[in-house]
Amino acid sequence: MDVLEAAGRREAAGDTVVHMEIGQPGARAPAAVVAAAQAALAEGRFGYTEARGIRPLRERISRHYRETYGVDVPESRIMVTTGSSGAFNLAFLGAFNPGDRIALTAPGYPAYRNILRALGLEPVEIPVGADTRWVLTPELLEEAHREAPIAGVLVASPGNPTGTMMRPDALKALCETARDLGITFISDEIYHGLVYEGEAASALQYWDDAIVINSFSKYYCMTGWRVGWMILPESLVRPVERIAQSLVICAPDISQRAGLAAFDATEELEVVKAGYASNRAWLLENLPKIGFNELLPVDGAFYVYAGVREFTNDSMDFAKRMLAEAGVATTPGADFDHERGNGYIRFSFAGSHEDMEMATARLKEWLR
Ligand SMILES: Cc1ncc(COP(=O)(O)O)c(C=O)c1O
Repeated sequence: MDVLEAAGRREAAGDTVVHMEIGQPGARAPAAVVAAAQAALAEGRFGYTEARGIRPLRERISRHYRETYGVDVPESRIMVTTGSSGAFNLAFLGAFNPGDRIALTAPGYPAYRNILRALGLEPVEIPVGADTRWVLTPELLEEAHREAPIAGVLVASPGNPTGTMMRPDALKALCETARDLGITFISDEIYHGLVYEGEAASALQYWDDAIVINSFSKYYCMTGWRVGWMILPESLVRPVERIAQSLVICAPDISQRAGLAAFDATEELEVVKAGYASNRAWLLENLPKIGFNELLPVDGAFYVYAGVREFTNDSMDFAKRMLAEAGVATTPGADFDHERGNGYIRFSFAGSHEDMEMATARLKEWLR
């Protein structure tokens, strides 16, 4: 947020800033989504929906799981939420008791630990690194569980800020370990669809009782529409539905109706994804040439998490100087990892190709 504010000040003063700090698609929502919203607006009637969301959308999501992952998920286990953020809150409230310990990776998406703490749960951040390809392993989870019982584990694959994906066998092994230890498994699959190397597996392929969370925000380019979904085990459906009914009532009606159209916008969305793929290739080729020698494997999402220890031991200061002196905004790693984040920054490549070219040209000059 500090970098974003500083970038805004620079722009207000007439400078140009290359925005690589923002974790959202630069593209607009697909035409079919906008058309569905316009048709709904023309009709003009928006009401509360069922707490679990409109039935056509739940049925469409169910079909998506059958077609994409070959798993049968009845619509009765699907809940439409206000983005994946809404889903985390509801899932944590439904699945855990105050004081429960929930395992996460460091680095990881900072909102997980913030939400957990706000709900009186204890985030247990497990450092991951190059030795495990930046993902959580059964051994690391078992070790944390031995120290004190873990009630839940939350993984994101592909992840933010790493962009690294768990290979299907690694995901399977972790699901099985969690099941054997009686640990609730939560899989944040928000970056599915944005995978460049290998194929993303869903935790539901390995454990029917996993909680799977997803969203229209990233692949579908709909961050501001605030709509996502989660798949719950049968036993959690009713409790979570009751919590949702009291806390939020439902996700916005118009966004649910628009989201339904997103599943048929594949052609348009694949063009957007091809743009990310070309940005990714550009950065992976050019960042090392200008001195960023440690880049994590970018299997998916739209982030490059880059080591900056050769330049600094304070990534916040580095990001601030990069913005002030080179006009390139990035996110310091300390946001994602308190311990080692000072050695990393995150570049988002969800912008245009011109942005990527301008960023590397400016950084080359700056680091010379
Ligand atoms: C890993 C991850 N999960 C969840 C979210 C939140 O997304 P939503 O817009 O669906 O609430 C983000 C947003 O950046 C994210 O990176």
